[in-house]
Amino acid sequence: MKKKESSGLNLTARSEESFITWRGLQIRMTQSYIWVTLGAVLLFQIVSGATTARPSNAADLHILWLELNGLAFLVVIVLGALFGFISTYGLISRLRAMTAATTRFAAGQYERRLKVYTKDELGQLETHLNRMAEQLVGYLAQQKLLVAQNARLEERARLARDLHDSVKQQVFALAVQIELAHTLLEKDREAAREHLGEADELSYHIQQELSALIHALRPADLQIKGLPRALEDYLTTWSRQNKIAAEVDLPETCCLPFPIEEVLWRVAQESLSNVARHSRASRVRIKLKLAGQQVSLSISDNGQGFEVSGNQGAGLGLRSISERVERIGGTTLIQSAHGQGTSMLIRCSISPVAESTAKGQVATT
Ligand SMILES: Nc1ncnc2c1ncn2[C@@H]1O[C@H](COP(=O)(O)OP(=O)(O)OP(=O)(O)O)[C@@H](O)[C@H]1O
Ligand SMILES: [Mg+2]
Repeated sequence: MKKKESSGLNLTARSEESFITWRGLQIRMTQSYIWVTLGAVLLFQIVSGATTARPSNAADLHILWLELNGLAFLVVIVLGALFGFISTYGLISRLRAMTAATTRFAAGQYERRLKVYTKDELGQLETHLNRMAEQLVGYLAQQKLLVAQNARLEERARLARDLHDSVKQQVFALAVQIELAHTLLEKDREAAREHLGEADELSYHIQQELSALIHALRPADLQIKGLPRALEDYLTTWSRQNKIAAEVDLPETCCLPFPIEEVLWRVAQESLSNVARHSRASRVRIKLKLAGQQVSLSISDNGQGFEVSGNQGAGLGLRSISERVERIGGTTLIQSAHGQGTSMLIRCSISPVAESTAKGQVATT
């Protein structure tokens, strides 16, 4: 029974609170208007009292009535203006604070919150704006996580493809050589030895391939050495593994923003992988050039070349290059023809790095 009473009381308190919460501003403004009206009525009473209390002739009475009414009219206007100014001052300040807050939120600054003064309509608006800013901060953090997750997935897909294209095929070939050596061991020891030699060679290549893959997965190298030295080291290993002569033209140092360095690094890796896999080239040339606010990277080979328009979208490599370059606001130009070798030129402006909004182009000839 007691329980019921207390819950009834709570309910009343809640409904009163919600009424004030929802109508607080309206109540306060209504109160203001009541005060102004009361003031005007009171003044009118005083004026009427003054004119009726004085015994005089009709003409004097009329003049006095007019004078007092004029004065009362002026006083009501001044008082009304003063009252209006005072009663709206708080309201306007809070509206201004809200405008400033929404401007900050629109500019992506969500650190500062609005002060909530009352629980009325404006207070609710302030609370909702604050909550909206918190939710936006949450969404942005979530979006960052998703971007990082996508980058990881992209990297995994790439690793899976590289493992499939290189290591898996070579392990298969290794297994075939060992199988053949095993079969020939009793009948033809010399032939078996040859197959074991092949297997040995293949296992060496697999090791090299794996270490190249591990190397490619570590842009830490890039962070430590900087782009020119990282490219030089990478190219030395790549050239030895693929038996393709490499020529480099790199600046001593170049201070590029890391997003640009990373894109150029990935582009170089993919292009070199294409040269090794598809070009049958005997020579490759890499040039990194910085001129003012422009950086360019060119990779050219003397291989068999290919029909660029016919091969767009054949694999993921060239597409991923142009996407990466677009993201830093740069352009990709691929020139190739059968028997003419292939060259790729990446150009990009150093500042500002307009990630995501930048518009890039891919030109092919
Ligand atoms: N330097 C090159 N020399 C000759 N052909 C090339 C060269 N670079 C690319 N190609 C041709 O362009 C095609 C598309 O290249 P892309 O890098 O997009 O795909 P991929 O290397 O076949 O596969 P992925 O990069 O997805 O592993 C290649 O299959 C190849 O035929
Ligand atoms: Mg490729």
